[in-house]
Amino acid sequence: MLNENMLPMAYLLAIILFILALGGLSHQETARRGNWYGIIGMAIALVATVLWKVTDHYVELGAALALGGVVGLMAARRVQMTQMPELVAILHSLVGLAAVAVGYANFMGHGGDYAGALKTIHDIETYVGVLIGAVTFSGSVIAFGKLSGRIGGKPLTLPARHWLNLGLLLGAIWFGIAFVQQSAAGAGDFPGLMPLVAMTVIALLFGIHMVMAIGGADMPVVVSMLNSYSGWAASAIGFMLGNDLLIVTGALVGSSGAILSYIMCRAMNRKFLAVIAGGFGTGGGTVAAGGGEDQGEVVPIEAAETAALLEDAKEVMIIPGYGMAVAQAQHVVQEITRKLRDKGVNVRFGIHPVAGRMPGHMNVLLAEAKVPYDIVFEMEEINDDFPEVDVSVVIGANDIVNPSALEEPNSPIAGMPVLECWKGKTTIVLKRSMATGYAGVQNPLFFKENTRMLFGDAKETLEAVNQAL
Ligand code: TAP
Repeated sequence: MLNENMLPMAYLLAIILFILALGGLSHQETARRGNWYGIIGMAIALVATVLWKVTDHYVELGAALALGGVVGLMAARRVQMTQMPELVAILHSLVGLAAVAVGYANFMGHGGDYAGALKTIHDIETYVGVLIGAVTFSGSVIAFGKLSGRIGGKPLTLPARHWLNLGLLLGAIWFGIAFVQQSAAGAGDFPGLMPLVAMTVIALLFGIHMVMAIGGADMPVVVSMLNSYSGWAASAIGFMLGNDLLIVTGALVGSSGAILSYIMCRAMNRKFLAVIAGGFGTGGGTVAAGGGEDQGEVVPIEAAETAALLEDAKEVMIIPGYGMAVAQAQHVVQEITRKLRDKGVNVRFGIHPVAGRMPGHMNVLLAEAKVPYDIVFEMEEINDDFPEVDVSVVIGANDIVNPSALEEPNSPIAGMPVLECWKGKTTIVLKRSMATGYAGVQNPLFFKENTRMLFGDAKETLEAVNQAL
């Protein structure tokens, strides 16, 4: 009943499901359905590949699937929501590593299967696949280190770093030509191995240097960029193995990651090439990076007074940030929102595109807590409304409400659009201390006349506010 012709059919079905998955994931209302399309598509792809594509080594295949499945399951169960970006980064590194491994296996195992122009094409596929894979691997490992705090967020700005990058690029091209020539000449055991290894080292160094040079504030672009690279790496594996599904799926991930990088750059008012060139977010500007005593006194507020202000307000804007994820305060936020709406207060949410630590981070948390979608707005939709807002509640956010991004040209986050909550009547900031946010810069918002600081863990303080309501 099963025959080879069913493989392209199964792959086509999986591809359609992946496209539907991407479409579904672009809206909160359809995201769950989109996820299911993706899961079913991947299940079909795996079963079809195991049944029709791999014929011999079932024991090894079963062992690898079981091992990968167990590790994946354990990681998924153990990882906290706040660790998701690191998990994504390390998973990207595995795609890169797979591309390198497949490239080498392909080079060593199938060199003699091709001749003439076909051989050259195959060699170029292998070379480019290993190149993209190695950059993705080392870049993602460094991104993992930066996102998890194991490596400092400060960019490494080596002298003449652009020349270094250019040198590495020229080296990769030079070894590429040598690789194709030596492989075509065909002398020795593995003709072309030396240039391939040399390029792999260059690509690994390039990946490390590229991500090390990017400052904390620009990490969102790097995460989505590596996401895109991992797609192209998968696509390269597809070319090497002659697997259509991998080519298309990799291209889908690669191009959607590239679009996301572009959206992130626009959201942060950065030029894509300038981010890649590195050096942003140096923390070397004139903004105080420490306690900020020079900026004056902050005015604290208590939970009961916060509740009273909220009850008296007509317009409330809630601005969630990374701290809401850390405190897991989204459920109590939803409770407070419900109570205020019942009392006739117009509550809205303002979401900055890079709030939290991954694209859509805040939307996921609010959807989990069942906050209605129609009161959750993107930054650009509501940023002009702040003059009419009575109370803005900033929950564990910092960089995304920092006025110095607009007012201080030397700030590491200069030029990034922010939620301009200080233009409203009162802003209440919930955080535990005067510590800085991800970009490591002090926030003049905290010292403004109409700002009140509600210190403490966001979940605990909001529970107290909820009680008082
Ligand atoms: P941050 O600027 O990182 O500020 C978060 C604030 O939350 C901190 O100042 C912290 O102050 C507070 N906080 C932490 N735990 C808390 C808790 N349990 N209760 C109350 N407050 C708590 O976050 P943001 O404003 O969301 O900005 C995001 C930043 O991350 C941007 O710089 C962005 O570039 C970067 N980034 C974003 C992404 C994506 S894709 N979204 C990816 C990588 C990096 P205390 O310690 O004083 O409490």
